[in-house]
Amino acid sequence: MKLLVVGGGGREHAIIRSLKKNPQVEIIYALPGNGGIAADATCVPIGATEIDKIAAFAVENAIDYAVAAPDDPLVLGCVDALTEKGIPCFGPRANAAIIEGSKVFSKNLMHKYGIPTAEYAVFDQMDAALSYLDTAPIPTVVKADGLALGKGVIIAETREAAKTAVRDMMEAGVFGKSGSRVVIEEFLTGPEVSVLAFTDGKVVKPMVSSMDHKRSGDNDTGLNTGGMGTVAPNPYYTPEIADRCMKEIFLPTIAAMNAEGRTFQGCLYFGLMLTPNGPKVIEYNCRFGDPETQVVLPLLESDLLTIMQSCTNGTLAETEVRFAHKHACCVILASRGYPQSYQKGFPITMTEEAARHTYVAGAKLENGQLLTSGGRVTGTTAIAGSLEEAIREAYRISDGVRFENAYRRSDIGQRALQALK
Ligand code: AMP
Ligand code: GLY
Repeated sequence: MKLLVVGGGGREHAIIRSLKKNPQVEIIYALPGNGGIAADATCVPIGATEIDKIAAFAVENAIDYAVAAPDDPLVLGCVDALTEKGIPCFGPRANAAIIEGSKVFSKNLMHKYGIPTAEYAVFDQMDAALSYLDTAPIPTVVKADGLALGKGVIIAETREAAKTAVRDMMEAGVFGKSGSRVVIEEFLTGPEVSVLAFTDGKVVKPMVSSMDHKRSGDNDTGLNTGGMGTVAPNPYYTPEIADRCMKEIFLPTIAAMNAEGRTFQGCLYFGLMLTPNGPKVIEYNCRFGDPETQVVLPLLESDLLTIMQSCTNGTLAETEVRFAHKHACCVILASRGYPQSYQKGFPITMTEEAARHTYVAGAKLENGQLLTSGGRVTGTTAIAGSLEEAIREAYRISDGVRFENAYRRSDIGQRALQALK
């Protein structure tokens, strides 16, 4: 089989490695992929949002099955475009990807169908948002409606900070059109859990839970990033909570999307907060998380390609989705300065062991040499029988990945370890 994967980060590298385990796979094209992915797939310089070019490439190369991994191509209709050309593609159509593409849509959906989430108000006029903030409970959370590279959420500790966030989004336009509408919502507290789930629009099969580490610094200090590391499973996500999430959140969400005529097929990502009043949805993503995928897929024992195809053709109920009862930890190496400004172009070296355990997120190949080209550069994953050992191994193996100005958090998994004790 000839496969195509749209995207070019660590998540896509993990997806490609997992797909390659199926002996029927002859070739995988990555559009655009990256310098590290080139070791596992054939990279083609077509951008992830160049939907027409992606569809044309898929037709010319007689692709049997495609996977659209990042949010923007999904929201732009990549799955629709490929499907129209007769190429089956994993992921939601644009009318369902809106569950991530518009926070106003997802909040209204949860409200309408009684799915637990933070209380909220929506504004498309700045003056109304500012006067609402005169009396809103503090801290409060200001969110840009549209996609904003994971940066469109501001937790405001004061009224002034909340108003500044609203002005930045609605007046200065720091997130462009994405900020022309905002959601202002109740500040929730509790441990966060990421649950990725396969769905064919009829049944939902959650993957092993995970925990992201979004802040740039140790002990959850510093700026929000795309994620500096992950562990799976998440110890806060007990079987009782999982049951409750299935009944109160996962099944109602699938049913709500169907009722709206927006059947969701693909990977639905539930960003949950386990509040004192029960589990609530912080956000939906219409795709695999990054770097959650780098700990979840290595634990998958069933065949990823078969599962993905079953999501597309509606046979997920009969398809096995089984995970190893082990622990995984992924440690990200970033360019010093990320998520703000950083230098690029440094040579990357890896020991043979590190290369086997490492997914490449931001690197390019130049004359056969791998060079850093992004904020998050690599993610190194280890699997072990205990969380403690998985963490120790992930750090030990990631010592084998070297480049100038490399930066990593030193406490990935520590909070999870405390929770286990
Ligand atoms: P998001 O981009 O929606 O994942 O939000 C980024 C982060 O902001 C989340 O992972 C949470 O830690 C935090 N966050 C978002 N919404 C809330 C909320 N209503 N209450 C508390 N924290 C929140
Ligand atoms: N790691 C969070 C995300 O993929 O959105």
